Amino acid sequence: MLDNQLFNRLTRLYIIALSGVALLSVIGQLLIQIFLNSLLDDSHVVNVAGRQRMLSQRLSKTAVLLCNPKIFQADAEYYSQDIKEIIFLWESSHYALKNRDLKTDGRTFKVRNSAKIDSMFQAIEPLFKVVLTNAKTIEKLIEKPNKNQQKLLQSSLNQILISDKTFLKKMDKIVTQYDLESTERVEVTKKIEMFLFTFLFLILILEGAFIFRPIANNIRLVINKLTNSERNLRQANDELVKTQEALVQATEEKYKLQLAEEKVRAASLMEGQEGERKRLAADLHDGIGQMLTGLRLHSEKVKSFDFTNAKQAKSFNELQHLIQETIEATRTVSFSLAPSVLSDFGVVPAIRILTEQVSKVKNMTFNIHTENINRLPEAIETCLYRITQEAIHNATKYAKADFINIQLSENEQFINLIVLDNGEGFDLKSVKNKMGGSGLKNMQARAELLNGTFKIQSKIGKGTSIKIEIPK
Ligand SMILES: Nc1ncnc2c1ncn2[C@@H]1O[C@H](COP(=O)(O)OP(=O)(O)O)[C@@H](O)[C@H]1O
Ligand SMILES: [Mg+2]
Repeated sequence: MLDNQLFNRLTRLYIIALSGVALLSVIGQLLIQIFLNSLLDDSHVVNVAGRQRMLSQRLSKTAVLLCNPKIFQADAEYYSQDIKEIIFLWESSHYALKNRDLKTDGRTFKVRNSAKIDSMFQAIEPLFKVVLTNAKTIEKLIEKPNKNQQKLLQSSLNQILISDKTFLKKMDKIVTQYDLESTERVEVTKKIEMFLFTFLFLILILEGAFIFRPIANNIRLVINKLTNSERNLRQANDELVKTQEALVQATEEKYKLQLAEEKVRAASLMEGQEGERKRLAADLHDGIGQMLTGLRLHSEKVKSFDFTNAKQAKSFNELQHLIQETIEATRTVSFSLAPSVLSDFGVVPAIRILTEQVSKVKNMTFNIHTENINRLPEAIETCLYRITQEAIHNATKYAKADFINIQLSENEQFINLIVLDNGEGFDLKSVKNKMGGSGLKNMQARAELLNGTFKIQSKIGKGTSIKIEIPK
C-alpha cells in the first residue's frame, strides 16, 4: 500500500518524534520531582529560620523570668529546664542553617544559602554569640548560684535584651530572604516547565505536519488509485460482456445462415425431385402410354377378324382387357407422379381428380370443401398437392379410415389446408422417436420452405388432423 521507502522514512521519523516526546516527558517528570523535593526543603528551611526568631524571643522571656525570682519562683524548676532546651535547639538550628547541615528526625534537608544569606549570617553572628553566651551564663548561674548572683544575672539579661532586638530584625530579614529565594526557584522551574511544554507541543506539531499529513495524503492517493482501478475493472468487465454478446449474436447469425443454406439445399432437392417426376410422368404418358393406345387401336382392328375357335376369341378379349387395364394403370402412375392437371388447371381440380382416383380403388369417401381459390404460384400449388397426396396416402395406408375431409381456404394473407381422417390415429411421440418415415417430415419441410407452418394432431381412436398455413 504505502510506498516502502516513504513508509520506512516515516517510521524512522515517528520513532524519533516518539523518543523526543518520551524524553521530554521524563525530563519534565524528573524536574517536577526535584522541584517538589527542593520546595519541601525550602519550606522546612524557612520554617526553621522562622522558628529561630520565635526561639530567641522565648529565650529573652525565659531569661527575664529567671532573673526575677519573685515572679518565676513557683515554676523555677520548669523554667531552668526550659532554658536549657531552648538554648540547645536555638544553637543547633542556627549552626545547621549557617553550615548547611540541617537534619530533623533523621531526615537531611538541603539548605541553599546564597552568598547574600551567608553574609547575613556573618552579620548576625556577633549578636547571636552575645545572646547565646549570656543565656548560657544565666543558665549556669541558676544551676549553681554565685555570691554576686543577682548582679551577674542582671548584667547578662541586659546584654541579651540589648542584642535581642537587633538580632530579631536581622533574623527576620534572613527569613524573608529565604522565602524570596525559594519563590525565585519556583519561578525558574516554572519557566523550564513552560519551555519543555512548548518544545513538546512543537514536536507534536512537527509530527502532524511531517508524519501524519504525508500518511493521510498517501492513504488518500492509494484509495483514489483503488477506486480508479475498480472503475477500470468494471469497464473492462462491461466490454467483456459486450464482446460475449457480440460473439453469441455472431454464432446465432452463423446458425441462421446455416439453416437458410439447408433450406435452399432442401428446396433445390425437392425441385429436382419434382422435375424428375414430371419427366418420368411425361415419358410414361407420351412413351408407354402412346404405345399402349396404339396397341389398343390395333387390337380393335384385329377384333374385326373372325376367330376360328371360341377359345381364341376369349383369349383375345382377355388380352384387350389387359391392355385397357395397363393403359389405366400407366395413367394412374403417371398422374400420381406429376398430374398435368395440376399445372394446367390448378390445385383444386388436381385434388378432386386425385380423390376420385382413390375412391375408385379404395373404400373411401371424401368431403372436399374449397372456396374460390384462384391459381397460385407453382411452388405453393405443388406443395399443397403433395401434402394432400401424402395425407391421403397415410390415412388409407395406416389409419383404416373410410372418410377424409379436405378443406382449402384463402384469406388476404394466408392459404390454409386442413386434412382430417376418421381413422385409428397414432401416438405422435413414438413416431417422432422412431427412425425412418419421411412422409410427415417432408410435409413439414415443404410447408416451412414456403415460410409456412405445419401442425399435426392425432389421438388414438379419434383420427388425425393436418393443418398447413402458407403465407401468400
Ligand atoms: N393418418 C395417419 N393415421 C395413422 N397413423 C399415421 C397417419 N399418418 C402417419 N401415421 C403413422 O406415422 C408413421 C410415419 O408416417 P410417414 O412419416 O408418412 O412415414 P411413411 O408413410 O413413410 O411410413 C406411419 O408409419 C404411421 O405409423
Ligand atoms: Mg407416409
